[in-house]
Amino acid sequence: MRTLMILMILAAAAAAQPPAGDAALGTRSYDDYEKAEVCAACHVDIYQQWTQSMMAQSYTHHWDEIEYFELAVPHAEKDAKVAGVKAGCNGCHAPISFLAGDVPPPRPEEGSRANEGVTCDLCHSITGFEGDTPHNFNWISEPGRVKQGPKPGLSSPHHDTVENDFLKSADFCGTCHNEMSPYGVWVKSTHLEWSEGPYAEQGVPCQDCHMPKAWGQNATMSEPGMIAQHLFHGAHDEGKLRGAIELRMHPVEREVEIDGSVQVKVQLFNGKCGHKVPSGSVEDRIMWLHVTATDSEGKQYHLPVDPKSFEGEETTIAADVLAYQDMGIARGEPDFPGVQRDGVPVGDRIFRMAYFDPQGRMTIQQWNTASLGPDYRIGPRETKVETFTWEPPADAAPGPVTFSAVLNYKRLLQPVADLLGVPADETETVVINFASTTVELYE
Ligand code: HEC
Ligand code: HEC
Ligand code: HEC
Ligand code: HEC
Ligand code: HEC
Repeated sequence: MRTLMILMILAAAAAAQPPAGDAALGTRSYDDYEKAEVCAACHVDIYQQWTQSMMAQSYTHHWDEIEYFELAVPHAEKDAKVAGVKAGCNGCHAPISFLAGDVPPPRPEEGSRANEGVTCDLCHSITGFEGDTPHNFNWISEPGRVKQGPKPGLSSPHHDTVENDFLKSADFCGTCHNEMSPYGVWVKSTHLEWSEGPYAEQGVPCQDCHMPKAWGQNATMSEPGMIAQHLFHGAHDEGKLRGAIELRMHPVEREVEIDGSVQVKVQLFNGKCGHKVPSGSVEDRIMWLHVTATDSEGKQYHLPVDPKSFEGEETTIAADVLAYQDMGIARGEPDFPGVQRDGVPVGDRIFRMAYFDPQGRMTIQQWNTASLGPDYRIGPRETKVETFTWEPPADAAPGPVTFSAVLNYKRLLQPVADLLGVPADETETVVINFASTTVELYE
C-alpha cells in the first residue's frame, strides 16, 4: 500500500514536469506568454537592448526567412528523414510559436506572434532542461506569474520573481546553441566547444562575454545596480568580430636572394572567444586568410597557403569547385549542379569545418548533414600557424618586399547568397585582423 502511494506520488511528480524538446510542440498557447512590450513598460533599458539584438530578429530577419521557407520547409515535406525540422527550426527561432503548435508560422510580413522570436517571457520562464546535454531546445518552460531571474528577493508590482541559478549557467544557452541533426551529427556546438575549453574550467559562462554587466536599472522603479546587458553581440556585430583573432607574422629569414625562396609564418591566436571561431552556424560562415607580397616597385603577388597534408584538408583551402547540390531537393531541381564552394580567392586558407550531406557532398543545410569534415577552426586560446612560400618571379624588383596578411570573415558564403537572393548586408566582409612583415630581396 505504502509503495503504491509512493509510486503514485512519483508518477504525479513526473507528470507535473512540463515536456521539453520535440515533445513540447503544441502544449501551450500564445496567450501563456506576455509580449515584450508589456515588460517594456518597466524594464525600459533592457527592452531597448533586446530589440536591437538578434534574439528579437530570430524569426524575422531575411536570411532566416529564406532558409526556413525556401529550403527547410519544402525539403521537410519531401524527405521523411528531415520532416521534423518543419516544426523544429522554430523550437529555437520562434519558440512560442513552436509551443503553440503553429507550424509553419505565418511569414514575417504577416506580423504574427512568431515575429517575437526569442522573447523575454520565454527565457524568463525557463526553469531547467531535460536530459544530460543541453541541445535542440530541451529547455523546460513554465510560463505564468513567476519570472525566473538571476537575483534573490526582488519584488515587482507586475509579477513574482524567483532566483534561478540555471539562468546564469552556460547550459541555459546550450539548450539552443547546441544542435543535433536528424542524422545524429552535432551541427551546432558552441556550448560543447565551450565546455571542453579553458573558460568552462575557469567558470566563465557565456553570459560574462555576451551579457556583460554594467551599472544601470533593472526596472524604472528599482535601485540602480550592476545589470546584465541584453545585447547578445555576436557575429552580427562588427565590433565584436574585430580583433576576435590576433594575427602576427614573421619571415623565416630576413634577407633572401632573388632567385631563392621566401617563407613567412602567420600566427592566429584566439584570445577572446569562449568557443571555436567560427562557431554556431558554421555551415554558413567563412573565415579566410589572404596573403600577398608587394615588391619595392609596388607589384603585388598573391600567395597560396602551404598545405599541411592532413586528411580532408582540401575543404580548408579555397578551390574552384562546385558544392551545395542538395539545395536542389527543396528547389525541385534534382540535377542542380551546385554553386561555387567558397567565393574567396583560390589558394587562401579557410578556417572551417565542412558539413556533408548523406551523399558526401558539402552542404549548408545543417538539417541534412550526415557527417563532418576535419575541424579546422581556431579553438579558445589556441594558436594556429600557417606557412606561405614565395618564389620571386624573374621580374620581381630587388629591395624590401612587404608581406601582408588579412583575416576576413563573412557570415554567409557569397555564392549561396547570390543564388538565394539574400540581402547584401548578410555577406558584408569584416576584416577580423591584419599583420605585415618585410624581407630584403637581394641580387
Ligand atoms: C509594472 C512594472 C513591471 C513589468 C510590466 C514587468 N516587470 Fe519585471 N520587474 C519589475 C520590478 C520593479 C522588478 C524588481 C527589480 C529590482 O528590484 O531590481 C522586476 C524584476 C524582474 C526580474 C528579476 C530580475 C532579477 O534581477 O532577478 C525578471 C526576470 C523580470 N522582472 C522579468 C520581467 C518580464 C519578462 C516581464 C514581461 C513579461 C516583466 N518583468 C514585466 C517590474 C516590472
Ligand atoms: C530559446 C533559444 C535560445 C536561447 C535560450 C539562447 N539563444 Fe542565443 N540565439 C538563439 C537564436 C535562434 C539565435 C539566432 C538569431 C538569428 O540570427 O536568427 C541566437 C543568437 C545569439 C547570438 C547572436 C549571434 C550572432 O550571430 O550575432 C548570441 C551572441 C547569442 N545568441 C548568445 C546567447 C547566450 C549568451 C545565451 C544564454 C544566456 C543564449 N544565446 C540563449 C536562440 C537562443
Ligand atoms: C535569451 C534569453 C533572454 C532573453 C530573450 C531575455 N533575457 Fe533577461 N536575462 C537572461 C539571462 C540569462 C539573465 C541573467 C544574466 C546573468 O545574471 O548573468 C537575464 C537577466 C534579466 C534581468 C535581471 C538583470 C540583472 O542583472 O539583474 C531582467 C530584469 C531581465 N533579464 C528582463 C528581461 C526582459 C524585460 C527581456 C525582454 C525585453 C529579457 N530579459 C530578455 C536571459 C534573457
Ligand atoms: C571569453 C568570452 C566568450 C565566452 C565565454 C563566450 N563567447 Fe561567444 N563570442 C565571443 C566573441 C569575442 C565572439 C565574436 C567572434 C566570433 O564570432 O566567433 C563570439 C561569438 C559568438 C557567436 C557567433 C558565432 C559565429 O561565428 O556565428 C555565438 C552564437 C556565441 N558567441 C555564443 C556563445 C555561447 C552560447 C557561449 C557559451 C556556451 C559563448 N558564446 C561563450 C566571446 C565569448
Ligand atoms: C537548437 C536550436 C536551433 C535549431 C533547432 C535551429 N536553429 Fe537556426 N540558429 C540557432 C542559433 C543559436 C543560431 C545563431 C548561431 C550563430 O550566430 O552562429 C542560428 C542561426 C541560424 C541562421 C543564420 C542566421 C544568421 O543570422 O546568420 C539561419 C539561417 C538559421 N539558423 C536557420 C535555421 C533553420 C532553417 C532551422 C531548421 C532547419 C534552424 N535554424 C534550426 C539555433 C537553432
